[in-house]
Amino acid sequence: MLEHDVIIVGGGLAGCRAAVEIARTDPRLNIAVVAKTHPIRSHSVAAQGGMAASLKNVDSEDSWDAHAFDTVKGSDYLADQDAVEILAKEAPDVVIDLEHMGVLFSRLSDGRIAQRAFGGHSHNRTCYAADKTGHAILHELVNNLRRYGVQVYEEWYVMRLILSENEAKGVVMYRLLDGQIEVLRAKAVMFATGGYGRVYNTTSNDYASTGDGLAMTAIAGLPLEDMEFVQFHPTGLYPVGVLISEAVRGEGAYLINSEGDRFMKNYAPSRMELAPRDITSRAIAYEIRAGRGIHPDGSAGGPFVYLDLRHMGKEKIMSRVPFCWEEAHRLVGVDAVTQPMPVRPTIHYCMGGIPVNTDGRVRSSGDGLVDGFFAAGETSCVSVHGANRLGSNSLLECVVYGKRTGAAIAQYVQKRKLPAVDEQRYITEAQQQIQALLEQPGQYRIHQIRQAFQDCMTNYCGVFRTEELMRQGLQQLEELQQQYPQIYLDDKGSCWNTEIVEALELRSLMVVGQTILASALNRQESRGAHFREDYSQRDDVNFLKHTMAYYSPAGIDIQYRPVAITMFEPKERKY
Ligand code: FUM
Repeated sequence: MLEHDVIIVGGGLAGCRAAVEIARTDPRLNIAVVAKTHPIRSHSVAAQGGMAASLKNVDSEDSWDAHAFDTVKGSDYLADQDAVEILAKEAPDVVIDLEHMGVLFSRLSDGRIAQRAFGGHSHNRTCYAADKTGHAILHELVNNLRRYGVQVYEEWYVMRLILSENEAKGVVMYRLLDGQIEVLRAKAVMFATGGYGRVYNTTSNDYASTGDGLAMTAIAGLPLEDMEFVQFHPTGLYPVGVLISEAVRGEGAYLINSEGDRFMKNYAPSRMELAPRDITSRAIAYEIRAGRGIHPDGSAGGPFVYLDLRHMGKEKIMSRVPFCWEEAHRLVGVDAVTQPMPVRPTIHYCMGGIPVNTDGRVRSSGDGLVDGFFAAGETSCVSVHGANRLGSNSLLECVVYGKRTGAAIAQYVQKRKLPAVDEQRYITEAQQQIQALLEQPGQYRIHQIRQAFQDCMTNYCGVFRTEELMRQGLQQLEELQQQYPQIYLDDKGSCWNTEIVEALELRSLMVVGQTILASALNRQESRGAHFREDYSQRDDVNFLKHTMAYYSPAGIDIQYRPVAITMFEPKERKY
């Protein structure tokens, strides 16, 4: 059996930052990062616009508490304010630490780190590397893994969390190269497995964002928190859905409907295009619904609006948001210097996740903790984003809470022994699971069920939700889940069998989708990204609380836990 002091599942920003912190704290610890892609290909690499921190390089009026207030207001008051305080206070230090590691942030003319405007932030506080910020940070962190001697298992798919008697003991993993199955045990297991964008049919997320860590946690019997809060990024490039960074609006671009109107004046007059994402995405969806969207031939009534950069000029476009220009040019043939880009909301981020405390320890319930189990980054819910995340707070969360979780793990494992694990039992069960997939005489191809499932989630649990719609969605999902044992794999081999991984990912997607739908159905109010047409107001009396959804094959049990309100009393949210 393979053994390490610490196993981190996920090679993105949160996982890599945690690994670096553990190694810095105690260089004797034996750390492994397990990732289903090469770490450099983790979805963090695709983050574009930047990372918020009140450095005050551009705006001397900024402060950590202004950042905290913006974050709590942006969250529609569902964020835990103790966690937000840590996020905002530690932000400047973690940015400087990244700079010292070698991250090439964009600069002001005096050499200090540049900062730009972002949605929902009251000051220019987003640090960036043009519009490739995730790329710049992740490359440095992955280089640092090597420097600190962290062992990387790349292209291994983790199939199962080994959890018994409220203690995480290791993982079972499958090697894509040759189908080898291994059990890996450790004194602490950390999940940093990212989000689940592929639950929906149009997303800015990469193909690997299939919610595996969330599903494994749920299947192990632990709760998932606030899963109903699914973020739509306002500007997905139409029709592909890839991200056109909020940085483009931060640098001055306009949103325009078919009448040539900057319609955000009707939805968020004081913030216009830089309103928070929930409000901006809904505004675009309303415009399209009202027939003021645009068709590819330029006529009214179509499925997108325009993001207009033309007034910004070529030099600014090419120096501040060159990658967004390139995406539009390469993918839909639009030259944003002379033509507006077609955009519409696209699934971007998961505000909910595996519930953790501010040391990254996973919660077993409202007030209990799991031994040996930690999580950070998008897969976790600490909860700094509440019902709606502000742009540029997610890279920040990965780094602040990746670092804190790493420090907590380094302390935690000092007192721990390697747990006893029945290796043969887990290997046999995993082999049986794979064998069943290979042998079942199914009638459906994976992509058929996955597409039907993604359409179901998109149609029944999208921007606008109602009880009737979500009940239909749950019923359709149940039917699709019954078809899962009838999928047929064409590839029966063990060498690079991507169908096996796709089949396992599909199971993850469905568990996550069911949890989203059940959590959304139970929240009978509108808050942040969760908008119910049948309950269109926020209801603090009944729903100022976090959802805790417990999955079992028989269904989802919903409980709640209180929100930590330490600084800002909930108020009506206006922009
Ligand atoms: O629009 C963006 O560049 C995305 C940033 C974020 O999600 O934080």
